[in-house]
Amino acid sequence: MCGIVGYIGDKDACKVIVEGLKRLEYRGYDSAGIALLREKHIDVTKTPGKVSKLEKMVSGLRPAKIGIGHTRWATHGEPNTVNAHPHTDCSGNIAIIHNGIIENHSSLKTKLTSLGHTFKSQTDTEVLAHLIEEFYSRTENLEMAVRLALKDVNGTFGIVVLSAAEPDVLVAARRGSPLLIGLGDSENLIASDASALIRHTRDVIYMHDNEIAVITRTNVSLKNLDDEAVEREAEHLTFDLEQIEKGGFAHFMLKEINEQPETVLNAFRGRLIDDEGVSKMGGLREVEEKIVNARRFVILACGTSWHAALVGKYILEQYAQIPVEVDYASEFRYRNPVLVEGDVVWAISQSGETLDTLAALREARQRGVPVYGIVNVVGSTIARETDAGVYIHAGPEIGVASTKAFTSQLAVLNLINLLVARRRKTITAEQGKEIVEEMHRLPGKIRQILDNTAQIEAIAEEFKESRNFLYLGRGVNFPVALEGALKLKEISYIHAEGYPAAEMKHGPIALIDENMPAVFIALRDSTYDKILSNIQEVRARKGNVIVIANEADGRLKELAEHIIEIPETLEILSPILSVIPLQLLSYYMAVKRGCNVDQPRNLAKSVTVE
Ligand code: AGP
Ligand code: GLU
Repeated sequence: MCGIVGYIGDKDACKVIVEGLKRLEYRGYDSAGIALLREKHIDVTKTPGKVSKLEKMVSGLRPAKIGIGHTRWATHGEPNTVNAHPHTDCSGNIAIIHNGIIENHSSLKTKLTSLGHTFKSQTDTEVLAHLIEEFYSRTENLEMAVRLALKDVNGTFGIVVLSAAEPDVLVAARRGSPLLIGLGDSENLIASDASALIRHTRDVIYMHDNEIAVITRTNVSLKNLDDEAVEREAEHLTFDLEQIEKGGFAHFMLKEINEQPETVLNAFRGRLIDDEGVSKMGGLREVEEKIVNARRFVILACGTSWHAALVGKYILEQYAQIPVEVDYASEFRYRNPVLVEGDVVWAISQSGETLDTLAALREARQRGVPVYGIVNVVGSTIARETDAGVYIHAGPEIGVASTKAFTSQLAVLNLINLLVARRRKTITAEQGKEIVEEMHRLPGKIRQILDNTAQIEAIAEEFKESRNFLYLGRGVNFPVALEGALKLKEISYIHAEGYPAAEMKHGPIALIDENMPAVFIALRDSTYDKILSNIQEVRARKGNVIVIANEADGRLKELAEHIIEIPETLEILSPILSVIPLQLLSYYMAVKRGCNVDQPRNLAKSVTVE
């Protein structure tokens, strides 16, 4: 996720681009930059921080008629000036902006360095600038150089390229990251989404994957990466700015729930070795031995991240067979925790700024044990203060209620579990391959759930006036019950509690009557028969039962009034699927109760107080 804007025409390119970048800041920003071409010279200005900072730096510059600008959501390389986009080649005559992840950036960098290219940044993006330079030296044609370069690239990109040698053209290309071209009168624009364009034009061409565009002030030509011309009708945009920022969804939370097929894929991207049934994470490469040989994992987190940590405990103890302790970060630091040689501490945090988690990891480090991060925001305080870590690549999460970050945290925990289990030989290569194959199927299975929300919306309508809810699960889905309860509490303000389903008979079942809906997660796994008994116990006391299940069998159909069916998957991966109906249920309940879904009362997206 980031913001891309390119312009060629008669207006002041700098002004058009900076205004467009401001419109795109909701897509995530940690740094920003612009490249302007005047008299065959490219001037690049870039800075950490918001677009307004860049705006001050470029105010008063001589006007230019062509340029590219970028707001960055870092994936590789700290958010700082040198890593900000645009990136240039060795000569400074080619500039590029990029949205996405270049999976094979390390091997490309090695090859280009051996060819004499010198790199300035730690980003994956910069390899594109030098790769295009390499091909340009052979073709002396920007479009051809870009097209040939992209044939060597694995990963996702939305790019716009500027060359001092071809001052009347912008070249754009996309695979997996959005790009659309705005068609003006003797001017054309290119951007990540329409919010940066509609001030200038509502006539746009949406680029598709593996396409390349050559854009001049009066013409746009589209090809695929096999150099075959593509015809594409222009579309006329009708929606307003706010709708664009939310991708046409009513709320950021619903948009982010619907991003999960892509964000879970991004969490795995470039990190699965299919034919060996193992995972690899660049951010843990240096500390892999410490992780594999650890005597115990201690995982520190808060809120939804703590629920992800609890899922991590179940899967790591089951497969990697490593003892795992999960602690609320806010409790850990005050209970004089015992940490010994061989312990490895993990801090899980979407924002990377949660003060309770930061303070707890500092406490752990003071006790001399290694601390590793599982974080979303690149360059955040927790990411910087851990000894190593893995970014979850979920993109900016704007809704206060965490959704896509949770499933990406689970995806990364499964990658760590796979690595440790395979290295410790607690699972075979065949078992590893089975897990990897199923991980590749998850985005499609998530999409299946998201394409069938009518039943969930109807259930929300039926229970929207409830004053209490119970969420019940067993095994690896017990933490999902806790997460479902938290989602409902924090956005609909209905009191909800999560419990291990078997715990009901030790007291909470006294709560059951016709006014106490109980949501069960009853997947066809090792706990299925037991949880059917727990459902029976609730039904016998007139409790309303809503069940998240795989394909419902006769026994379940007799028991539950509402059965939400989700695709089957491996037990250790099932929380990534079972949580989604619960996210949607809480969303629809909150909307039907007129709550502020994206900014619930009393809450903040990042809790930077103790
Ligand atoms: C989750 O929906 C809440 N917004 C909250 O519990 C959150 O998970 C918690 O504050 C931890 O935040 P972090 O992941 O950014 O550290
Ligand atoms: N992967 C690139 C980087 O880390 C692009 C990130 C983005 O999409 O903003 O710079």
